[in-house]
Amino acid sequence: MTAKGREQPRAAVLLTNGYRIRLVTNVLRSGERQSIHVKLSFYFQRHFQKHSLTLPALPLRARRRALGLTQAAVASSAGISIPALRNLEAGRGAIGSLARVLPGLDLHWSWGTGAAVGPALAERRRAAGLSQSALAIRVGCSRPTIHALERDLTGRFETLLRVLAVLGVRTAVRELPRARKPGLVPMRNAPERDRVMTPPALAAAIIAHFADRISGQMLDPARGAGAFYDQLPEHLDRSWCELEDGRDFLDWETAVDWIITNPPWSKIRAFTQHAMTLADHIVWLVPIVNITTKARLRDLRDHGFGIAELVLIDTPRDWPQSGFQLVAAYLKRGHAGDWRISRLDALAQD
Ligand SMILES: C[S@@+](CC[C@H](N)C(=O)[O-])C[C@H]1O[C@@H](n2cnc3c(N)ncnc32)[C@H](O)[C@@H]1O
Repeated sequence: MTAKGREQPRAAVLLTNGYRIRLVTNVLRSGERQSIHVKLSFYFQRHFQKHSLTLPALPLRARRRALGLTQAAVASSAGISIPALRNLEAGRGAIGSLARVLPGLDLHWSWGTGAAVGPALAERRRAAGLSQSALAIRVGCSRPTIHALERDLTGRFETLLRVLAVLGVRTAVRELPRARKPGLVPMRNAPERDRVMTPPALAAAIIAHFADRISGQMLDPARGAGAFYDQLPEHLDRSWCELEDGRDFLDWETAVDWIITNPPWSKIRAFTQHAMTLADHIVWLVPIVNITTKARLRDLRDHGFGIAELVLIDTPRDWPQSGFQLVAAYLKRGHAGDWRISRLDALAQD
């Protein structure tokens, strides 16, 4: 029988599990006898409600940039690929990958922490008077997907964002709260870490570490409250810059022998490039990733510099914590050999 027909939707029923049943008739006419067959079909279809949701804010990229970190550095520290990180910054990918990225950016989920983060989502759902099935319908996913999220936050990041939107959560992640000590870590920074002052004991320990090599003219190019400058050996000729006191290091032109400080990390490239035109010896207190990216190493090579030593340092307790190793990086003109790795005496940091 050759048959031609057109499907006509007749009725649809929406089920609570997110599926709908559609009744469709198809009138088939065949041959000269014009016999008519009516075919009834039931379709079970996943019903996606076409809500346009305002997704929660996701300040991942802004946060990374505020910390002066490259995608490569964050991805490698989290153990994920750069494309995976790009996806996350665009609001896509596996929640598990995002969970590995958050600590390095000093971020945490906005509605809960630790193992309770899934159950905390369930509590919010119940507070909103929604069953798992009802939430699934509004999000456009299956009930098991909601179940997995509420169990241990397994699933896709894009689904989580829609769940949060339905539950009225406006931002997916927040900065870690931490005790801040006035004078060392300001309440507001732009970019945040550029105004984090070094504990004087740590600055003293770093100076002591290099003391037998230091000679000639010294410059602290970003004095801040003076943790380094005030403790430089007094018999040496010392100078300083500090933007907030009207002396921009990037305008400084006098050559010196040594430059040493905790610089503004978001300006590390400009600072390093300029410092290499002024001095043969540079010591920066920075996260290791800021000074060892391919671009930074290329800059060093292009200026005839190399990393002579990386002094590993525990992040001061009052500072924003992150997964990145803090170092005093000794950059030396003409150094083409190995990187010496050492560790600052832990006692000296207390
Ligand atoms: C991370 S803080 C560290 C301050 C100090 N070196 C210390 O170890 O406590 C960086 C400092 O660099 C200053 N700064 C930022 N840009 C600068 C520039 N272009 N020239 C001089 N200082 C600058 C900031 O005002 C801030 O005080």
